[in-house]
Amino acid sequence: MAARKKKVSESKVLHRKLVQLWNRGQSKYCEVRGSEIHGRGVYATRFIPDQTKIIEYVGELIDKEESERRGNAQHAKSLKTGDAAVYIFTLTNTCDIDGNVPWNTARLINHSCRPNCEAWIDGRKIFIHALGDINAGDELTFDYGFDVDCYEDHPCLCGKEGCVGYIVSRSQWAELGTRLKAKA
Ligand SMILES: C[S@@+](CC[C@H](N)C(=O)[O-])C[C@H]1O[C@@H](n2cnc3c(N)ncnc32)[C@H](O)[C@@H]1O
Ligand SMILES: [Zn+2]
Repeated sequence: MAARKKKVSESKVLHRKLVQLWNRGQSKYCEVRGSEIHGRGVYATRFIPDQTKIIEYVGELIDKEESERRGNAQHAKSLKTGDAAVYIFTLTNTCDIDGNVPWNTARLINHSCRPNCEAWIDGRKIFIHALGDINAGDELTFDYGFDVDCYEDHPCLCGKEGCVGYIVSRSQWAELGTRLKAKA
């Protein structure tokens, strides 16, 4: 009887922990919907004032060696299937966060050439912040910061005025322009 009681309370503790884990990846400010940019996206459920901490980018804390291994595996998969989704975020010099877990809502935020959000590192956590006022119903987006060297692999469908056509870090747009001109 005592052993059964212990088992029940252990499973309750586990359940509570799973609920906590799940809730950490959710936010009152946003929800997942079908996106006009690509697949699923994340949309504001209410007005979000500038600078608001919207949602945590949760995931598994991994060291650089594991990060490289997973990054290479994702790349190899993308060459086979065309699925180029990358969920690994650089956190520090020694570790990264792999956000490829179902409770990480923020993993579904799409890229835009005119993003309304930005990822900020806060200690050992990553949060998505508003870059300006965001209206209810707007899709949340941020700059994926992809390197210009692989621009051809990532055409951008953000549809924003001034879209540069490829998912490339804004800091490398000048270089992208030079390469596109050279090709024309
Ligand atoms: C982390 S996932 C984002 C969620 C994705 N929409 C989904 O449904 O799984 C990243 C992938 O979404 C797609 N994506 C995100 N932003 C995009 C954009 N602006 N234009 C085209 N595809 C985009 C690309 O395939 C990218 O590799
Ligand atoms: Zn774009």
